[in-house]
Amino acid sequence: MKGLILSGGKGTRLWPLTFTSAKQLIPVANKPVLFRVIEAIRDAGITDIGIVVGDTANDIKQAVRRGNKWGVDITYIQQDAPLGLAHAVKVSQEFLGDDRFVMFLGDNVIEGGISPLIRQFADSDWNSQIVLTEVAQPEQYGVAELDDKSQIIRLIEKPKVPPSNLALVGIYMFDHHVFEAVDAIKPSWRGELEITDAIQWLVENQFRVFPYIHRGWWIDTGRPGDMLDANSMVLEELTPDVAGYVDRDSEVDRRVTIEKGAEIINSIVRGPTIIGENTRIVNSYIGPFTSIGPDCLIQDSEIEHSIVLENSTLDALPARVQDSLIGRHVTLARSPMRPKALKLTLGDYSQVGLL
Ligand code: TTP
Repeated sequence: MKGLILSGGKGTRLWPLTFTSAKQLIPVANKPVLFRVIEAIRDAGITDIGIVVGDTANDIKQAVRRGNKWGVDITYIQQDAPLGLAHAVKVSQEFLGDDRFVMFLGDNVIEGGISPLIRQFADSDWNSQIVLTEVAQPEQYGVAELDDKSQIIRLIEKPKVPPSNLALVGIYMFDHHVFEAVDAIKPSWRGELEITDAIQWLVENQFRVFPYIHRGWWIDTGRPGDMLDANSMVLEELTPDVAGYVDRDSEVDRRVTIEKGAEIINSIVRGPTIIGENTRIVNSYIGPFTSIGPDCLIQDSEIEHSIVLENSTLDALPARVQDSLIGRHVTLARSPMRPKALKLTLGDYSQVGLL
């Protein structure tokens, strides 16, 4: 089997972070979501992986390269515009050939990997298998209707009256018949070739499409709140490790990972939390569900339930920062200079919540 990761798209819901970087490279627990996707596919025994890239191709290529770091072989597939998930399959036909493949959205995080579902599909003669999970509010998702033999009969986007509480997760398995489907369908009202339409076409043309019900958590990191949720879930699973330095005046609890070269000075750190390489935490409080990236400085400040990317500084802040997503090379500091005022340099589409 081959792997196909979708890593194009625009990432508009994560502006302004995605103005300067690909959304799939935003880290949760200090590791980009895309790297977690590559690891999940590799751990399922697949080493031949295509990555569909768009405007952020250079960024992604620089971070992933040929895949040697993971022992996989990466092929990049350029998609000229984000014309839909089924369009991404279409442009990958040459790479995929006649092989069965798993397609994984490059911004999704799933608990427990994908080995069991890959095994089931690889051993079957089904034409497609779609990963579903039970959700509380199916009307907000793409939902599947199953027949009495558990075969998929219909997929409906955001149904007013959901036929089940089984929503589509961003993982799909196909054989080469999917190319007939993506050639047959037309763009939807939003101008995209929809993967749900391609699957529906397979069903209507008597191809065998089965569900795989995923029992753990799954997060599509489309919006900032989803990134924070994924961060919390992954931090909970992390095996703590202290490779950095903690001074005697600090209090660091058991569920904290401190990467090498990091220093905790006169501070309190409550887990689950990760502190990146060469970051300094000085006279500060770092609360649960926080990931501080490498080469940061947190000084005389308090932060919890947040993600801070590399090379950023929080200094002498008058209030605790929480539920926040802070980019690279950001400085948030109290200034002694008069007049006493907020002095801000914010990128387009920044969102700041003041006291
Ligand atoms: P989406 O989250 O649906 O789209 P997006 O990344 O453009 O985000 P936004 O809605 O905030 O603008 O995409 C899911 C994944 O699939 C994501 O990793 C990007 C990728 N993708 C492609 O590679 N090609 C495409 O044509 C589309 C639509 C998405």
